[in-house]
Amino acid sequence: MTPLYDTHIREVSEETITHAADLIRSGAVVAFPTETVYGLGANALDSAAVARIFEAKGRPSTDPLIVHVLSEVDLRELVTGIPPQVSQAIADCWPGPLTFVLPRTEKIPDLVSAGLDTVAVRSPSHPVARALIRAAGVPIAAPSANRFGHTSPTTAQHVYADLAGRIPLILDGGATTIGVESTILMVEGDRARLLRPGAVPVSVLRRYWPDLEIVSRYAQVEEGAVPAPGMLLKHYSPRAEVRLYDGTDEAVRTALREAVTTLSAQGQRVGLLVADDDLDAVAALDVPTVALGPLSDLEQVAQRLFAGLRELDATGVTVILARLYPPEGIGLAIRDRLIRAAEGRITKV
Ligand code: TXA
Ligand code: MG
Repeated sequence: MTPLYDTHIREVSEETITHAADLIRSGAVVAFPTETVYGLGANALDSAAVARIFEAKGRPSTDPLIVHVLSEVDLRELVTGIPPQVSQAIADCWPGPLTFVLPRTEKIPDLVSAGLDTVAVRSPSHPVARALIRAAGVPIAAPSANRFGHTSPTTAQHVYADLAGRIPLILDGGATTIGVESTILMVEGDRARLLRPGAVPVSVLRRYWPDLEIVSRYAQVEEGAVPAPGMLLKHYSPRAEVRLYDGTDEAVRTALREAVTTLSAQGQRVGLLVADDDLDAVAALDVPTVALGPLSDLEQVAQRLFAGLRELDATGVTVILARLYPPEGIGLAIRDRLIRAAEGRITKV
């Protein structure tokens, strides 16, 4: 049983960082902002503390965590070796939203890596995350600070909505700037595989790994496939059912209008998650609508994506209809999160 906590949301000050670091060192979990999404952190070297993360999230212990460190020097303690390409990528991309999966040393408890012989590590750039790691003096294991399978949190209020009563403290650093989780790269010797697209785009990774392999994250759509840890299709899900439309802008807008009419006639309460460019085409429908930003600014769309899903959910809609975005740059990560939120329900138009 998870103990009941009086969950405090605290503005960040030197005192709150010290308090949060004390909690981490004492084996408790604390939610904190990173540049991607809020994390639910515990001392990565303390198995009992890490177990509290799984308990608070309701996360199965088969799903490994990401360890947060300050620098490559800290990484060296946790993995058996750092290939030269990783050092080069670190020099250019750390601190930042790039996670490496590498063979682990025995410093890492089994629970952190779900019994695998590798560990995922990144160095966040958010000043609050860095201050917390520095003050705690230990690497911090942290998944996204949401209930398992739910939409990732991009504000302290999102964390509160999911985890109030289950954790003692949320450090409030405002809305996160990137809004989707880090890029995850599995590195084996000279080879690298993209396990999760994120803010660091494929074009940047190909500078270090020209033959970078892109792993399909939608294993469950392919019949009979057994998904690897973290590859479950159902993920990032709001309460409402999400349905996606993929095609030319005009075709998508027509399909959205038709679907709103059909589904509303069937008694569904429909919400729309669109780009600013779509607004004129759907304005007359008079259903809850969230516009994430212009198609020309996918960074903004990414930053608002999870908040948009939560906002529509809060209106009580039963179905969320959304457009897909081009798979370029951070668009690949946006597509990935939407496809998983929709559990693969895509209509090509
Ligand atoms: O941006 C982020 O990465 C955020 C912030 C808090 O840093 N964290 C995050 O953690 O997204 P989480 O737990 O939601 O995602 C961790 C995922 C796992 O689900 C799994 O897919 C992958 O990282 N992972 C972790 N360790 C792994 C390993 N040893 N092998 C393969 N995949 C691993
Ligand atoms: Mg997560």
